[in-house]
Amino acid sequence: MAPSILVQPPVEPSTTTAAPAPPANDDYYLSNAYRGPSKVKFDPSIHLSFTPWQGRYTLSDLGLPASAGANDFGTTEPFQLASPAAVLELRRELLQESTLKKRLHWWHRSPACLRGYTAAEAPFIHQFWTSPEVIEIVSEAAGIQLEVCLPYEIGHTNVQLGPGGRAGLKDLPVTPAPVPPGWQERRSDYDDVNVDDWHVDSFPYTCVLMLSNTDRMVGGETALRLPGGEIRKLRGPTTGSCVMMQGRHMPHAALRAWNTGERITMTCPYRPKHPALRDDTEITNSLQLSYLNELFGQFALERFRVLQKKSEYMIGELENGKKEAWHWIRWE
Ligand SMILES: [Fe+2]
Repeated sequence: MAPSILVQPPVEPSTTTAAPAPPANDDYYLSNAYRGPSKVKFDPSIHLSFTPWQGRYTLSDLGLPASAGANDFGTTEPFQLASPAAVLELRRELLQESTLKKRLHWWHRSPACLRGYTAAEAPFIHQFWTSPEVIEIVSEAAGIQLEVCLPYEIGHTNVQLGPGGRAGLKDLPVTPAPVPPGWQERRSDYDDVNVDDWHVDSFPYTCVLMLSNTDRMVGGETALRLPGGEIRKLRGPTTGSCVMMQGRHMPHAALRAWNTGERITMTCPYRPKHPALRDDTEITNSLQLSYLNELFGQFALERFRVLQKKSEYMIGELENGKKEAWHWIRWE
């Protein structure tokens, strides 16, 4: 029989944290002008606006085998995670010149991804996704304790392209705004292209965060394809809302959005923290979207960290088993 430690009890969602509005007279917060590494340190009381999810589905609920993943978790309904102040800082770093120049990748599946920025290039993005508060929330959503999979993947972002193509990304504003009334959608080569086509992730758990204004947005969902062929579409009603999912085992896609000047979603992948749980992490999807000299070193280091943790755990289990066996031998 498996030891009881293999199954961790689900964590209860905590209560809503109201986020104070950013200072109205602060030019830095309101300015569209500054793009670069954020000058703001992540503060959960300012940058989180967490509202617990209204629904949460296991793999079994979705028709998938419960044993497919590290635990029987499929997805949450969308829920609010980031405050407007956080979205602003995330976008400042995402849309800075060096990111658009050095960190823009594309392949057959998605026409534009921004990814791989270091903590020096994007300190707020790294602070946000690795903060104990965000990790606690995504762990509550998944039902087990999680930790970040790979630094290279922190803040992987899918960006919808329009008539301006990749060169047009520099024109996206730092502050997300709805399209004005009467705005006309212009046709582009990307109209029939998913923002990220159907796939399963290389990483077990992913949080997908909406960074665009959703006031007049049509579409733009994360779509799940269930075993019976049903397509389930999930998108939060607000900027800063997110969906948490075990994307390693559920085919999904990022759908194009309409009636909006943009669709930007930022993600962060996580793995189970407990060494007794399976870690499905691999990097097949990352290979074509990364500088391999950066990716391979990080991946190797993380694999050895996981191996070290699992080895220490198993050594402890075996030593405890030996002590217990000796105890029974002495008493019999
Ligand atoms: Fe994905």
